[in-house]
Amino acid sequence: MKFMRIIFLNCNYLPEAEAMISPFDRGFLFADAVYEVVSVMRGKLVDFAGHIARLERSLGALGIKGAPDAGTWLNFCRELVTRNDLDEGMIYWQVTRGNPGDRSFFFPPETTPPTVFAFTQSLALADNPAALTGIKVATLPDLRWGRADIKTTQLLYASMMKMEAKARGCDDAWLLRDGFITEGTSQNAHIVTDKGVLVTHQLDRKILHGITRKAMLDLTGGLVSAIEERPFTVAEAQGAAEAFVSAATALILPVVEIDGVRVGAGAPGPVTMQLRQAYIDWAIANSI
Ligand code: PDD
Repeated sequence: MKFMRIIFLNCNYLPEAEAMISPFDRGFLFADAVYEVVSVMRGKLVDFAGHIARLERSLGALGIKGAPDAGTWLNFCRELVTRNDLDEGMIYWQVTRGNPGDRSFFFPPETTPPTVFAFTQSLALADNPAALTGIKVATLPDLRWGRADIKTTQLLYASMMKMEAKARGCDDAWLLRDGFITEGTSQNAHIVTDKGVLVTHQLDRKILHGITRKAMLDLTGGLVSAIEERPFTVAEAQGAAEAFVSAATALILPVVEIDGVRVGAGAPGPVTMQLRQAYIDWAIANSI
């Protein structure tokens, strides 16, 4: 029988089959919602402070009010981990603008309570087999809206591009805007040049400000010669010594092929793999 999760919905812990959300919820009708994905290692939340800060930034950017405070989130996340006996995987958080009771493009009054939802999902993070083989990416146009820095649930385009990448025999897509790679469909994208320079898109409205990216950049000491925060082209990435992605669910994963062209030796690179290990050690040490 399938394991029945206990989810969190509007202050209640419920078996997943009993969770009910109104079809008039703004999250359902307008994707008027923000979310976070927090990794869990050894039963603890990784970089909780970073994810809370970004959630609050996303909520502030959209003017969604009334979400729980950091202490409340931490309590119910820990409760979900315990109730679902989660050792390794993720916790997903979503906050929508709530249920105005009708469909209207105008936002409901700010007093409308937000819908707050969270669930756990078990995943192999440290022992992900893709870390040993690396992943292949296809480059595809970045036709997302201009506020990729807000972590909204409007993920249809990212999902379509993942499917297109799969149809091309790849594991994922890197998105291209004005001739430069912005990021992956659900990860930040990085390269290491043959001079050991780590190049990663600067933090602006074109990319999600990755929490894993931030921690990873702080762990590069001794592993890279410099960090350049700027966009890079497909040709530069294909000619790089190494390429990799970062995300809560991927941690750090090597990219070995871009549009059918091998990156470096076509195998996970040494800087990437050392950064991956450094990140895993850091994540375990900084989980609560
Ligand atoms: N995605 N860029 C995009 C578009 C993302 O969706 C994500 C995360 C990232 C990496 O951010 P972080 O390091 O904070 O996880 C970058 C999550 C994992 C998801 O949607 O499942």
